Parts: sequence; structure tokens; C-alpha cells
Amino acid sequence: MNTAESERLVTIPLGQRSYPVVLSHDLSTGQASDILAAQLAGRPVALISNETVWPLHGETLLNAVRQAGPAQSTAFILPDGEENKTPQQWLRILDHLAENGVTRDGVLVALGGGVVCDMTGFAAACWMRGIEFIQVPTTLLAQVDASVGGKTGINHPAGKNLIGAFHQPSAVLANTEFLATLPEREYLSGLAEAIKYGFIQSAEFVHWLRQHRQALLRRDPEILDQLVEQCCRFKADVVQQDETEKGRRALLNLGHTFGHAIENLGQYRDLLHGEAVAIGTVMAARLSERLGLAPAGLSQEVTAALKDLNLPTGLPQPAAEAETRRYSPQALLQRMRLDKKVSQGKHRLVLMRGLGQATLAEGIAEADILPVLESFCQAV
Ligand code: NAD
Ligand code: GLY
Repeated sequence: MNTAESERLVTIPLGQRSYPVVLSHDLSTGQASDILAAQLAGRPVALISNETVWPLHGETLLNAVRQAGPAQSTAFILPDGEENKTPQQWLRILDHLAENGVTRDGVLVALGGGVVCDMTGFAAACWMRGIEFIQVPTTLLAQVDASVGGKTGINHPAGKNLIGAFHQPSAVLANTEFLATLPEREYLSGLAEAIKYGFIQSAEFVHWLRQHRQALLRRDPEILDQLVEQCCRFKADVVQQDETEKGRRALLNLGHTFGHAIENLGQYRDLLHGEAVAIGTVMAARLSERLGLAPAGLSQEVTAALKDLNLPTGLPQPAAEAETRRYSPQALLQRMRLDKKVSQGKHRLVLMRGLGQATLAEGIAEADILPVLESFCQAV
């Protein structure tokens, strides 16, 4: 499908800062190549990637970038992994820009998953008080979420994504063919972030995902393009209404307060982010039922939809007896208290009124949360 005919376009509508998300199977033709030429010709360009992605897909990007006619192009390769989303590694990107004379008219191009996209975006946000950047996401999670919407950042020892800025890219170029090399668990983790849009705002989308589960699980190219396009449309709508998360954008955190606590207790080893969010979403659904916010049966519906996509819906079995206390209700609750959305012992959580109807709920008492956590810990 190396023709411009396979392209899809979603616009992130932010007035003068609007930008295109182009879904293309060939960055060297059609709109993707037009965008690269318009954005990169005659300018210093730095490609930022990591040691895993660059050997797989670097050449493809490099060819497309060279064709666009930049004044110069250099590549900077980060070590792989969330543990490298640090100020130290981020500073190394800036060092590279300084060493290679990337001036204010320079452009960064991120090639990688959410980690590379977030770090590159934050380097672009800060270098010379803000330069342009283009996202070329290579994981499903980054194509449906992280590369779109302008949240950029890095981790601080005190917590994930604590250092960051809103800085919108000038374009997102997503090639779903890059997903062919993605490890299975990483792919499924991306599906968790995709189905999240359905749980939040579209029961119809949840049904669509369930209906196409076989095609999704075998990464059918046509279904993948439809999936990424639809998710980017959902995200465009949210970002247009609430770019800096003063309201509706917070709904995208469905399952995340529970999920972050689970990830943290698993020391970021047991579960990938999307897996923890999937379990966290079932917890949110069960709490919604308990509070009478949602009808009984919602958590079963959510569980069935996640299971269809081979995603986990309960806490992982501990590897050893000594670890059984790792996911205790109290430990989970304690981690949830560290969340930015707690005040005076009451929690602010994204809950659900039904399938496709997420809502921000204030003042949730721990006495209501604890029994839900207990039911999950007993099930381990
Ligand atoms: P990731 O970037 O660590 O990528 C996952 C793994 O897949 C890595 O080992 C990576 O090297 C590898 N990989 C990437 N593309 C590949 C490919 N095509 N083939 C083979 N391997 C490939 O993780 P992620 O799940 O993409 O992103 C998670 C990060 O995204 C987190 O840091 C999270 O905070 C951030 N995030 C940001 C936003 C946002 O709005 N900015 C939204 C969601 C998540
Ligand atoms: N991934 C959540 C957001 O972009 O707001």
C-alpha cells in the first residue's frame, strides 16, 4: 500500500497552532512527504530515537527526511526504557543540539514510543525557549495517545512526568506498518489505551473493538489504520476543548489513579502501563457500581471487553509467597494518596456512569475505595 491513497488525515484544531496527524504507510510520498518538505527544507534537523527503534525504522525516516532537503540532519540515539526518561538523558539531547548548532529555526523529529516522543517534545519545548518538532510515533500507545495533544515531559525521582510542558508538535506522522515489529505485550498495552476512549465516551467504539478483535489481534493493516484514525479523532476533540487539562481532558485518566498505584507497587516491572490501566479501569467500574453511579453489571462488561483484547483484568499472581503482600489494599490506597488529585483524605477519581460515560467524581471516601481494592487483592 505504498501509495498516497492509503493516507488518512486528522486535524488537531487549535487555531493558528492546528496541526495534521497523517496516517501513511510511506513517509516518502504524499502528504507525509509534503509536510516534511514544508517543515524541514533548509533547516537544521535533529532526529531523536532510541537504541531499539533506530535500527528497525531509522533508515526509513532518514530517507524521507533527506528527501525533504534539510540544511543538515543529525541523529541522537537514547538508551531504551522508561528508566531513561530522566533529566540526565534529556540534557544529553540538549547537548547534542548545542554541539550540532541547532538554532531557533531547527526542528526535532521524534522516532519512537511514548518515551522518545515525550522527551523529544520536552527538549523542543525548552531549547531556545521553544522550537518546532514532529512526532513519528512507533508504538500503538504513542500513535493513539502520547504523540498527539502536546503533553511533553520527563520523570523526576519523586514521580512520573513531574517535569514537563504543554508544547504542541507541528505534525504527527504515524505509520502503522511500524507496529509490525512491536512486541506482543507492548501492542496489547496500546490497545488498552485505545479502548479507553470507548469506555470514556463511546460504547459504540467498545463494540467496534470487540467486533474486530480477531483482526486487531493479528494487526490487520486496514483495521489498524481505522483504529488509530478513530482514536486520534477522539483525542482531537478532547484537546480542542481542553488543551491544558482544566476539565474534560482529565477524563483521559480513566483507570490511571488505580493503574499508577498498581504499576508503582509492581516496581514498574510486573506490568506495562496499559496493562495496569486496564486493571485500574475495572476497579473504577466496580467502584462506580458500589457508589450507585453506574448500574450493576458495568464492571463485567468492561472486564469482558478487555479480555477480548487479551488484556489483564485482575492483579498479577505474585511470583513468590514473600511477595503476596505487595498488592495489599492498604498499600494500593497509600499509593493512590500520592496522586495529585487527593485533598483532605477525599479522592478525585474518573469514574463511569455507564459504558462510554466517564465522569469526574469528587470527594470519594477511602471507606468506599477500600472494599473494592480488597475484592481485587482477595482474587489474587
Ligand atoms: P516506550 O516508548 O517505552 O516503548 C515501549 C517499548 O517498545 C520500548 O522498548 C521501545 O523501544 C519499543 N518500541 C517502540 N517502537 C517499536 C517498534 N515499532 N518495534 C519494536 N519495538 C518498539 O513506551 P510507550 O508505551 O510507547 O509509551 C509510554 C510512555 O508514554 C510513558 O512514559 C508515558 O508517560 C508516556 N505517555 C505520554 C502521553 C502523552 O500524552 N504525552 C500519553 C500516554 C503515555
Ligand atoms: N494521555 C492523556 C492526555 O494526553 O491527556
